Amino acid sequence: MMGLRSTSSRYGAGAQAFHWLTVMLVLATYMLSKGDRYSLYSAAADGLRRIHETLGVLVFIVVVLQLLWRLIDGAPAKQPMARWMAAAAKLVKIALYALLVAIPATAVLGTWLEGLPVTLLGFDIAPQIAEAHGLGQSIMEIHATLGNVILWVAGVHAAAALFHHFYLRDEVFQSMAPGG
Ligand code: HEM
Repeated sequence: MMGLRSTSSRYGAGAQAFHWLTVMLVLATYMLSKGDRYSLYSAAADGLRRIHETLGVLVFIVVVLQLLWRLIDGAPAKQPMARWMAAAAKLVKIALYALLVAIPATAVLGTWLEGLPVTLLGFDIAPQIAEAHGLGQSIMEIHATLGNVILWVAGVHAAAALFHHFYLRDEVFQSMAPGG
């Protein structure tokens, strides 16, 4: 039985739930990020945009809870590995957390600067800041770019996990794998 908290050798059910929920939410938000050929803002894309924005806001909420959980529950002990590898792993993790915060933050900021409401499933949140349309558009371009970048960074992170499992044959992959 896996406990809620991490042990010296693996992540607990709490950390694993946050990790895999984040993976699923980001993948779903990404897959639902391409509107019709014109824009996610078009009337035809209204339903899609609401799902994209709702899932994206959930990513933000989950990452905040995840970081709070990380304060209570530490990570498993470091596995022995080359110094450059440990440094690279840490850098990638920091980049992923930074992107998970920056992507929803730029989306909400850019949308409001454009003078548009954030449209969630069932309700809208009107702009809370003054309109600056051009700046808003630029920030939305950054949002879209970062939204694509996170898939690449996550891909590198996942490839590294597989490298640990199949090539280095250490316990890194196992530590985040659900089950016994
Ligand atoms: C982790 C969360 C998110 C990810 C991974 C993500 C990803 C993306 C990506 C990749 C695009 C570009 C789509 C394309 O290539 O055309 C995009 C566009 C967009 N996203 Fe997000 N997004 C996230 C959260 C949000 C949130 C919270 C909002 C709420 C305001 C939002 C609103 C939008 C809008 C309105 C566009 C269209 C921008 C435009 O056409 O100028 N996204 N998102």
